[in-house]
Amino acid sequence: IANRKLLLLPGDGIGPEVMAEARRVIDWLARSGRARFELAEDLVGGASIEATGKPITEPVIERALEADAVLFGAVGGPQWDSQPFDNRPEIAILELRKRLGLFANLRPAPVFDALIDASPLKPEIVRGLDIMIVRESTGGIYFGEPRGIETLPDGTKRGINTEVYTTPEIERVARVAFELARKRQGRLTSVEKANVMESGLLWRQTVTALGAEEYPDVQLSHMYADNCAMQLAKNPRQFDVIVTGNLFGDLLSDLASMLTGSLGMLPSATLGAPDAAGRRHALYEPIHGSAPDIAGKGLANPLAQILSLAMLLRYSFDMQEDAAAIEAAVSNVLASGMRTADIEQKGTARIGTRTMGDAVLRELDKLGG
Ligand code: NAD
Ligand code: IPM
Ligand code: MN
Repeated sequence: IANRKLLLLPGDGIGPEVMAEARRVIDWLARSGRARFELAEDLVGGASIEATGKPITEPVIERALEADAVLFGAVGGPQWDSQPFDNRPEIAILELRKRLGLFANLRPAPVFDALIDASPLKPEIVRGLDIMIVRESTGGIYFGEPRGIETLPDGTKRGINTEVYTTPEIERVARVAFELARKRQGRLTSVEKANVMESGLLWRQTVTALGAEEYPDVQLSHMYADNCAMQLAKNPRQFDVIVTGNLFGDLLSDLASMLTGSLGMLPSATLGAPDAAGRRHALYEPIHGSAPDIAGKGLANPLAQILSLAMLLRYSFDMQEDAAAIEAAVSNVLASGMRTADIEQKGTARIGTRTMGDAVLRELDKLGG
């Protein structure tokens, strides 16, 4: 098997702890003859600030551009909260998304049967749930201009951010969502606030036109973002694929994570546009952050990071079987009652990060190592 270039960016807090477990799965893939990766590892976020003064440096961005795929942990922490705004650890992930052109952030929220009781929602509401949120990730209010904090002549200050979307930005992310819907249950819900925001109105018009022209087979509906938040808690199974902007997608995917039991379970893939040769930049990361409250204690759930690796195999290397093996191993581990604290239920064994990693590796060995 040809060498594939993988860049690991563990980051801060629990990032390195959960990345260590994903790395053991990467080693397993090599050991079992399934895939060999050319691995590189680098600093991002607070760790990079400590070493270089900056949350991400140009050489790291260049390595990310050269890699076949990037596996990212998490960045941030209270020790860097007093950094100047444009030097915060979080800049690292925003900069990577922007510079690599990673405009489509895929955030699946499937419910594992064994975890149905870990969700704060009633079992009958979440059983069988399988949502895919497609979050636009290089535009919207995260990147719109003007932005900043300015002082007016009378001394009053103004904090400014601007929500901007152009038709090509909307079309390319909507296309990704329509294609996914086609391969799933054929239903797409487009989410904005077209009732109060012009960028939302343009979003709705553009998605509607694209659907009518290119995806008449996909059942398209529209929903205001506030209603969508309510509907996700009330009747989440009505959703198949959701497509939405950067900020609403951030909020709705954290909400969706609790339908499945924990933020510590949900992986994501952030994809760019394919080039002429079909190659595209891609970054994979859990949707959770650096969890400063549990960092350094060995308590973090590594499954979101491990499932992000499975997504990496699936989307960047078309290694469907190996991705499925990792997902099956995770599912079996959960079925056996192993639980980190975040997904603990009555009568299940409470374990730490490393023990959860051990359990996944044991299952992988059983599945054929
Ligand atoms: P967070 O996701 O780090 O944590 C929220 C809560 O979920 C915490 O109670 C945490 O303990 C728990 N949690 C998260 N991941 C877990 C896991 N794998 N296992 C068990 N429990 C887990 O969000 P936050 O506390 O709002 O932010 C902390 C820092 O992380 C901030 O600096 C924030 O900017 C950053 N952040 C980074 C990313 C990223 O790197 N992509 C994402 C979100 C937040
Ligand atoms: C996420 C995070 C990031 C975001 C932050 C850390 C910049 O919350 O990946 O969900 O808001 O996109
Ligand atoms: Mn988030």
